[in-house]
Amino acid sequence: MTEGRATHGARHVAIIMDGNGRWAKKRHLPRAMGHQRGVEAVRTLVRAAREMGLEALTLYAFSTENWRRSEDEVSTLMGLLKRYILADLEEFVANNVRLKIIGDYRKLAGDIVELLEDALARTAGNDGTTLVVALNYGSQDEIARAAASAAAKGAVTVEGIEAELDTAGLPPLDLLIRTSGEVRLSNFLLWQAAYAEMVFVDTLWPDFTPAHLAAALQDFAGRERRYGGR
Ligand code: IPE
Ligand code: IPE
Ligand code: MG
Repeated sequence: MTEGRATHGARHVAIIMDGNGRWAKKRHLPRAMGHQRGVEAVRTLVRAAREMGLEALTLYAFSTENWRRSEDEVSTLMGLLKRYILADLEEFVANNVRLKIIGDYRKLAGDIVELLEDALARTAGNDGTTLVVALNYGSQDEIARAAASAAAKGAVTVEGIEAELDTAGLPPLDLLIRTSGEVRLSNFLLWQAAYAEMVFVDTLWPDFTPAHLAAALQDFAGRERRYGGR
């Protein structure tokens, strides 16, 4: 596809976008401002991922545990999600970006589910970069749902479960990035990360730019993946 892809070799990158609250706190701003700037970082990064020739970019936007936050913060996050999809859907359509959601998104508010399903339908035929948004996503929940589906088909094997994961059909995860200095997975892509390379950066999410992504991809390109072999 693009020159970028040929050099970095990664097909699927996932990001735990963390640090919006600390970004705001440092500036004596409300947390909502951090989330708002976080959306700007998403918008810029999605464009860059497309230009860098990634087949899939998976972004952790809202976890199954994030419901523990205040009602006010949850509603801010849902409002931002809605506005982002509304504002950028035409751009996805125009740029051949396919939207995919992982997580139990049907448990979100009805208007958001409707908006997401419209966006999914309108971009389903696109075959450029897939933007995967993790919403009401928890890896343990995903694996439990996949195992139940696999069991119903009498196929409780690694392949049988994998085929039922929300990520089925996506390229294998190559690189997992987490911002803000935290070194943990917080229930994100536990299964898919089995052999993913990981990059942890101190940058807070609103400050994360395409240059940071390019640096992580360069780091990735220099790693030797052995998958247990030798
Ligand atoms: C990430 O930033 C955004 C979401 C989890 C939705 P945080 O809100 O977790 O920011 P910190 O970790 O409090 O700085
Ligand atoms: C992970 O970040 C979830 C998202 C980025 C959506 P959190 O901020 O929720 O994770 P913890 O609580 O620090 O582990
Ligand atoms: Mg956080």
